[in-house]
Amino acid sequence: MTTDQNALKRAVARAALEYVEEGRILGVGTGSTVDCFIDLLPEIRERIPACVSSSERSTKRLEALGFKVLDMNDVEEIGVYVDGADEIDPSFAMVKGGGGALTREKIVASVSKTFVCIADASKQVDVLGRFPLPVEVIPMAARAVKAKLEALGATVTLRDFVTDNGNAILDAKGLAIAEPEKLEAEINMWPGVVTVGLFAKRGADVLLLGTTEGVKTFA
Ligand code: A5P
Repeated sequence: MTTDQNALKRAVARAALEYVEEGRILGVGTGSTVDCFIDLLPEIRERIPACVSSSERSTKRLEALGFKVLDMNDVEEIGVYVDGADEIDPSFAMVKGGGGALTREKIVASVSKTFVCIADASKQVDVLGRFPLPVEVIPMAARAVKAKLEALGATVTLRDFVTDNGNAILDAKGLAIAEPEKLEAEINMWPGVVTVGLFAKRGADVLLLGTTEGVKTFA
């Protein structure tokens, strides 16, 4: 990653601070852009009573900075969820899961009022699918799900990775995802699939895009 790209990530992370609501539980995603966001949170510490996190990685980082991280089962609703994306299309549908946290990300997103996506300009695409689509699967289903993804035209690799939930991830390359919501629904139905990294049914509400001309806001 270039220094320029890092600067864009830091800029969108800073812009996201404005969306953090006073006194409400903050949802925190996962990834290098979110790491920049977490590192800035001490600046607005007094606004944040507690957080919910989408990965062990973000939880550790938040706790190291002194933030309280709640279990999702102790939380009814989250105001704002800030997370990155691997790709985002014009309808705010996303591919997520490059960092392997897709399942917990989808859970936190599902109970959040507002999903604020923070991404550098390289993540904006017209059609999803250039980035390999991550699919979290129960380990015993890896072969069967791989075959189904290949039948859709993808080239599939098993990631050398175990998720926070003890599962495996398949990365499906070469899918041009013209109808993200339809594909999300279809793959979700396959036996053994825990989560597909398509966030179309519940996409982002706000996109803060880091560009060389500054942070652009889309909503
Ligand atoms: C984590 O599982 C992902 O969904 C991340 O949100 C996504 O990969 C973006 O990560 P970066 O901010 O590191 O690009």
